[in-house]
Amino acid sequence: MTFPQPKLSAAYRLVFCDTIDSTNEEAKRLARTAAEEGTLVWALEQTAGRGRRGRAWVSPPGNLYTSLILRPQCPMDRAAQLGFVAALAVGDTLASICRKPLDALCYKWPNDVLLRDCKVAGILLESELGEGKFPKFVVVGVGINLVSSPRETEFPATSIAEQGVGTASPGSALGKFASHFEDWMERWRDEGFAPIRAAWRARATALGEPIRVRLEPATLHGRFIDIDQHGALLLETAGALRRIAAGEVFPVTRS
Ligand code: BTN
Repeated sequence: MTFPQPKLSAAYRLVFCDTIDSTNEEAKRLARTAAEEGTLVWALEQTAGRGRRGRAWVSPPGNLYTSLILRPQCPMDRAAQLGFVAALAVGDTLASICRKPLDALCYKWPNDVLLRDCKVAGILLESELGEGKFPKFVVVGVGINLVSSPRETEFPATSIAEQGVGTASPGSALGKFASHFEDWMERWRDEGFAPIRAAWRARATALGEPIRVRLEPATLHGRFIDIDQHGALLLETAGALRRIAAGEVFPVTRS
């Protein structure tokens, strides 16, 4: 089969599919049969793409759909920081695709990437526990809206083309993402979460501002104080500081 060949370093082994149910599902299937770290599943379209919290990720041709298998030798809570690593790699990918200056790019906790306050990319981290407390594998799934975005989403969505800020094929976007991910992964391995946290905070949306956090079934209102040294959100609510490890953030101006 011939397909567009993205430029990838020796750290990656590409698994290309024209159409697949979900690159995350395929990556998990492969990871369970001992596929090595760096296996990168890429599809031109998904028939059952998945987002966080059980939502569908509409996946027509033209956008990027990819999932990377990692086998980090660390506890699960630290492995969750890989979502921030991926968000920074997506941010750098968008910055290198889009016309400069791109000051409209920001990160929404935990792992969304926004362009002009609309979601342009999403990240779905999935893992399975091995023996002991380390994950057997982590799959980092990334969707970047290059040419189209879904309508009528709860949080407004957009694409690079719809914003008129640049163009990229899925293959070239994949090559850029893979390269930036490798760079940020190296920093995470060498220096820990601190540089990741600093870069993420520098472009965080609603930091210091009122937000609504959906925790299923509860929703909390408060002020987004910070993310801590593990990546959890610190919310000031009802006069107390609450640490939130998982949830969904909505700036209150949008509610
Ligand atoms: C979200 O923001 O809800 C996460 C979206 C993640 C979508 C990507 S597309 C590639 C990979 N395969 C999937 O089924 N989901 C992720």
